[in-house]
Amino acid sequence: MSLQFFPDGRFRHFLSLEDVPHAALEKLLESARELRADALGGTALRQHLLGKTVCNLFFENSTRTRSSFLLAAQRLGADVFTFDASTSSGKKGETDIDTLKNLEAMGVNAFVIRHSENGAVAKLAEAAGPGTCVINAGDGRHQHPTQGLLDMLSIREFKGSDFSSLKILIAGDIKHSRVARSDLNALRTLGAAEIRVCGPASLLPTDGTIDGCKRFEDLDQAIQGVDVVMMLRLQRERMEEGLINSLDGYFRDYGLTQKRLALAKHDAIVMHPGPMNRGVEIADEVADGPQSIILPQVSNGVAVRMAVLKALLA
Ligand code: NCD
Repeated sequence: MSLQFFPDGRFRHFLSLEDVPHAALEKLLESARELRADALGGTALRQHLLGKTVCNLFFENSTRTRSSFLLAAQRLGADVFTFDASTSSGKKGETDIDTLKNLEAMGVNAFVIRHSENGAVAKLAEAAGPGTCVINAGDGRHQHPTQGLLDMLSIREFKGSDFSSLKILIAGDIKHSRVARSDLNALRTLGAAEIRVCGPASLLPTDGTIDGCKRFEDLDQAIQGVDVVMMLRLQRERMEEGLINSLDGYFRDYGLTQKRLALAKHDAIVMHPGPMNRGVEIADEVADGPQSIILPQVSNGVAVRMAVLKALLA
C-alpha cells in the first residue's frame, strides 16, 4: 500500500513527486494559483486550518522552506511552531521517532520535516499516528516535492501551462540535488517537450535520475535555444572530496553568465532554488538581471505550501 495516498487517491502524506499522477499534480498547482492572491498577507484564509497544529521539524538547515511553511500555515489560520532539532534532546540521544511521537502527543496534526538522510522522512511518516500527516521538506538528495511544485507553478506563471513546447535545462550539481529529482518527476508528468541536463560528469547521476533527458557536459551547447534555465547549487556538504577541481574552474565552465545566457532563447527565464553561491554557479548580473525569476519562485513557495497544507489538513 502506498504511504503517500489513501486508497481513494487523496494525499495521506506528501513525500515525493515520483508517483503523483498528472491530475493530482494539476489540482495542487491550480489550488496554489488560486491561493496566490492571498499568499503574501491578509486574513482572508484564516478559517481554513483554524484549530489545526502544524510543526516544522527541521533536522537540517533551511531559510526559504522553513519560513515559507511557517507563513503558509499561519495564513491558513493554523497554530504553528518550529522545532529546531539541532537545539533539542536529539543531542541527548533521543531518536527522531521518539521526538516525533512526543510532539504528536501534544496535539500536532501535521509535521513538515527536513532531514539529511534519504528516506528518513518516509520512515517518520510510517511511525506517525493515523490522524497525523507528514510533509517532506527535503530528505538528503532524494526528494523536495514542494520545491518541485513551486518550480512548476513559476514556469507556468512566466511561460504558460502548456509545457509541450518548452525546452528546459537543469544545470549544475544534479547528482546531489533533491530539487532536481523532484523537478524531473514533475516535468515528465507535465509533459515538457525536452529536458536537458548539464554538469561535469562527476556531478551527473548514474542512478536512472536523468534517464530520458538530453545529457550535456558543455554548458554552452546545453543552453542553446532553451526556454528555461534552472541552475542548481553546488552541494558541497553532500559531496565527497575531489568531484570538482576548483570553484574558479567551475564558474568558468559551468557558471551562468550574461554571455552564456544570451545563447538561450531571448525570453528565457532563469531559476534557482536558493541558496545561491554567487560567483560559483551563477553571476550577479544574471541572478539580479531581468530574466531572473528567482524571487518570484520564493513568493510562489508560500502559495504552493498553502495548497499542500490545505490538501492534507482541511
Ligand atoms: C534547496 C534544498 O535545501 O534542497 N533549497 C531550498 O529548499 N530552496 C536547494 C539547496 O540546498 O541547494
